[in-house]
Amino acid sequence: MDDPAQVEAFWECGSASGVLAPTYLFNAVQTALVVRPGDKVLDLACGPANQLVQFARLHPEAEFLGIDHAATMVDRARDTVARSGVRNVSLQSGDMNSLAGLAEASVDCVTCTFSLHHLPDQGSLRQAFREAARVLKPGGGVYICDFGRLKRRASQAYFANERRELQTDLFTQDFLNSLKAAFSLADLTRAAALLGGGVGIHQTALAPFMVVVSRPTQDAAPAATVDRGVQMLSELSPMQQRDFMNLSRWFRIAGLPLPIDVD
Ligand SMILES: C[S@@+](CC[C@H](N)C(=O)[O-])C[C@H]1O[C@@H](n2cnc3c(N)ncnc32)[C@H](O)[C@@H]1O
Repeated sequence: MDDPAQVEAFWECGSASGVLAPTYLFNAVQTALVVRPGDKVLDLACGPANQLVQFARLHPEAEFLGIDHAATMVDRARDTVARSGVRNVSLQSGDMNSLAGLAEASVDCVTCTFSLHHLPDQGSLRQAFREAARVLKPGGGVYICDFGRLKRRASQAYFANERRELQTDLFTQDFLNSLKAAFSLADLTRAAALLGGGVGIHQTALAPFMVVVSRPTQDAAPAATVDRGVQMLSELSPMQQRDFMNLSRWFRIAGLPLPIDVD
C-alpha cells in the first residue's frame, strides 16, 4: 500500500473526523488491559499512524514503535505523529514477516490493526505471528484486529458501503478489496496459536466482520487509562459515538466486553 492516492484516502478516513475514528478508539480502549505503564509496544504495519496515535494517547507512559514496509506510509506516519503532539512514538521501516532489527523477547506488547489481510498467503500470516512471538516477552500483551472473511459478497458490499457518503470512492474500493482479501476465522485462529497460551479470539456477533486476537496482561485498567478513554470518547461526534457503541455491542454479545465503563 504505497500509492500516494491510496495512502491519502486511507489517512483521511482515519483522521479525527473520519469514518475509521470510532473503530480506532474501540481498538485503543480494548488495549486498556493489554498495555501497562512503562511497556515497550511494537505496532506492526502501523500505516499512517492514526491508530497508533490513539494507542499512544491512551497510554502516555508506554513507549510505542511503529513499523511499516511502505515508505509513503512511514512518511505519512511521521507527519501524523508530529501533528498529534504525542511524544511516546517512534517509527521505522520494517517488514512484519522479518523483524530482523528486533531481538528475541525485547517487547512487552504487540499490536497490529487491519494489516494482516495485506499478507499474501497463510504461510506469510503464520510467519508474521512467528515473528511476533519471537520478539514478545513470554506471556506478553497482544492486541491484533483485522477483518474476518465474510462468506457472502453481499455482506462484503454492505460493510464496505455502510458509510459510503462519508468516504472517498477510492477508500470504498480499498475497503471492499480488504474484505475480499481477509483471512478466515479458522486461519487467524491457527496462526494465533503460535503466540502461545492465554490468547483469546473474538469476532463480531453473527459474522466475523472484525476479528480480535488478544492477550491481556492485567485484570483491571488503571484509573487514569479509564479517564483518558472516557475523555477520548467524548471528543467523537454523536454519529461516531453511535458507531463506537454499536461496535462495542457486537463484540460484547460475542464475549468481548469493553474493559472500561464508558456509559
Ligand atoms: C490498511 S493499512 C493499516 C494501517 C494501520 N495499522 C491502521 O490500522 O490504520 C495496512 C498497512 O499494512 C502495511 N503492510 C502490509 N504488509 C506489510 C508487511 N509485510 N510488513 C509491514 N507492513 C506491511 C501497509 O503498507 C499498510 O500501511
